[in-house]
Amino acid sequence: MKVIKIHEFGGPEVMKIEEAERPVPQADEILVKMYASGVNPADYVVRQGGNHILKPFLKLPLGLGLDGAGEIEEIGSDVAGFEKGDKVYGIPNFLSGTYAEFIAAKATQFAIMPNNISFNEAGAIPSCALMAWNGMDLGKVSAGQRVLVHGAAGGIGSLALQFAKSKGAYVIGTASQRNFDFLKQLGADEVIDYKDENFAGLLQDIDVVFDASPVFSEGARMMMAGALKDGGRFVSVQIPYPFSEAFLDILAKKHCEAKMVRRELDVAQSLSEIAKLIEGGKVRVVVSRVYPMEKAAEAHAEVETKHVRGKIALEIRKESEPI
Ligand SMILES: NC(=O)c1ccc[n+]([C@@H]2O[C@H](COP(=O)([O-])OP(=O)(O)OC[C@H]3O[C@@H](n4cnc5c(N)ncnc54)[C@H](OP(=O)(O)O)[C@@H]3O)[C@@H](O)[C@H]2O)c1
Repeated sequence: MKVIKIHEFGGPEVMKIEEAERPVPQADEILVKMYASGVNPADYVVRQGGNHILKPFLKLPLGLGLDGAGEIEEIGSDVAGFEKGDKVYGIPNFLSGTYAEFIAAKATQFAIMPNNISFNEAGAIPSCALMAWNGMDLGKVSAGQRVLVHGAAGGIGSLALQFAKSKGAYVIGTASQRNFDFLKQLGADEVIDYKDENFAGLLQDIDVVFDASPVFSEGARMMMAGALKDGGRFVSVQIPYPFSEAFLDILAKKHCEAKMVRRELDVAQSLSEIAKLIEGGKVRVVVSRVYPMEKAAEAHAEVETKHVRGKIALEIRKESEPI
């Protein structure tokens, strides 16, 4: 089978397509015939050698890719609830790599994918969707609240915006102006240009800030903290960028809490609930571009711009391809 691996850290050119043995699933695993993988910021961070959190875990050679979708080809002896041929989406074990024609992964990390979207759409979203889902939970987002989604046009942000709307919140999204119509189509009640030097000055009485921006900025954090209501919540996806003491002090004075998203949630259950929202038309998956496996370098270059609209997908095999 074909797989993309890196044997050294560096630019997009270090990714090579090579032949590998098809993995054999363990008792608690499924073998997934992959159709599509998501392309996430973590993929290029890993490819470049990692950040202070990831570095200790990166041992070459490495496969790339956090999430994806495909069809179950084999089922481990202890796995219940799936059948061969099921179409699934999920996140395999961290750093095991999804840019591959087959992957073996813990069954608990997968769910049946939404029945009204393509493999490219389903494969593009699991990691981002879980981050956004976890963010709604940590933020305790509920009907009638005013929720600010910062970086609302990206992979996590575009889903968070829609999850918050599906809970009945009033959602304000930030993006650059070229994405204003996009955010409105996704259901944003208000849109704000984050390039406006004092964008948070336009905001007030925010119950929950969900910061899904790929750009780490103490200034942006401080401005958004200023817009929070007393007792509000600030949730961030910027795991490698801890909250500063000064920022936490400001929140404490307003009795606000700060939380960082994490991966420790019930993946299968969360993905099943997300699938229901997608099937019910409450959440739209936007894949702005699909790259074939051979063009993984171009896909990485696009994600590195930090201006992807929605998601991009890496197509591992075409849906029409004979089994
Ligand atoms: N993807 C994951 O599964 C995952 C998991 C954990 C953590 N994270 C972290 O979460 C962050 C977001 O991830 P993502 O996958 O959603 O990223 P992404 O899709 O690459 O984000 C792209 C979006 O960010 C917006 N953006 C760019 N500069 C901005 C700024 N200065 N302020 C606000 N928005 C800005 C862009 O909007 P415009 O084009 O309109 O500027 C674009 O739509 C990253 O730091 C990532 O490392 C991601």
